[in-house]
Amino acid sequence: MRTTIPKHIIRSQDFTPDMIFDLIKLAEVLRVNETTNEGRKFLGTLLSGRRLFADFYEPSTRTRFSFETAALFLGMTKVTTESAGIFSSASKGETLEDSIHALCMYHPDVIVLRHIEDGAAERAALASVNGVHVVNAGDGTGQHPTQALLDVYTIWRELGRLENFTILMGGDLLHGRTVHSLAYLLSRYRDVKMIFMSHPGYQMKQDILDHLDERGIEYEIVTNGEIPIERADVVYWTRDQTERHGSSVHDNHPKLIITPSLMRSAKETMVLMHPLPRVYEIDPRVDSDPRAAYFRQVENGLFMRMAILFSLLGDMDRIPHLRE
Ligand code: NCD
Repeated sequence: MRTTIPKHIIRSQDFTPDMIFDLIKLAEVLRVNETTNEGRKFLGTLLSGRRLFADFYEPSTRTRFSFETAALFLGMTKVTTESAGIFSSASKGETLEDSIHALCMYHPDVIVLRHIEDGAAERAALASVNGVHVVNAGDGTGQHPTQALLDVYTIWRELGRLENFTILMGGDLLHGRTVHSLAYLLSRYRDVKMIFMSHPGYQMKQDILDHLDERGIEYEIVTNGEIPIERADVVYWTRDQTERHGSSVHDNHPKLIITPSLMRSAKETMVLMHPLPRVYEIDPRVDSDPRAAYFRQVENGLFMRMAILFSLLGDMDRIPHLRE
């Protein structure tokens, strides 16, 4: 039996490994269809007549493009706004609840929301009416569950497994929402060890560490010294989230940078990931290393977001070989 994903996609804790694996299988089928003209035409029929609204209050390149592209490739129509905080009625003092309620009256099927405040997606889901789905495309320093789903898809494709590996997550782990959602999602799998490297004061959020303790997940916190790259099967490197705390983490600390010389200490099979945007924390000379997976990760985001939209809105009978 196929699983059903949550009606609103708000937090990664709501996803089980079975749901994730169904999404991965679906993403793989959609990817194959994308390689032929006939397949592309078929994709374009899957969600025709359905509507996506992208309501973005914060800057975005990949998340917005990939959701909009995913919608178009599946035949959806879309209405989008970026800088909603400036150009929408929010600038006049309208609450998020009223804005979402109002958008629902224009008959979308799904609203993809990126917002500056933690918890905004959950509030939007509560305010949504007429059966409209809400997808969290990043809420402040909270979560970014669809990024974590594409990250897990990338680990599956690159490493070939979702258990029994060590992941080294680095950067501004306090304010970075991608690492929050990824830690929650990976806590579902067996024998995943997590090493969190950040400067003091930018460590992984306590509620996530508590969650890992509850689930008996082994983790380690590193706040100084060399980057322990040699221990990792997956490295997930992230940027300093300067816009969230107004200063640079590196004003008082050395920068944590993945360089070609550091890559020489890493395992041959190591997978280097980054949600992007990158600022300086991965030297561009590393891009040509076959272990650098971050641009493949971007492409995986397109197929995972197509899989998410289709799982929310589509008819699984249209993809018969996915049925058991
Ligand atoms: C991330 C985000 O917006 O949280 N970007 C993304 O969606 N790929 C990461 C970041 O901004 O650092």
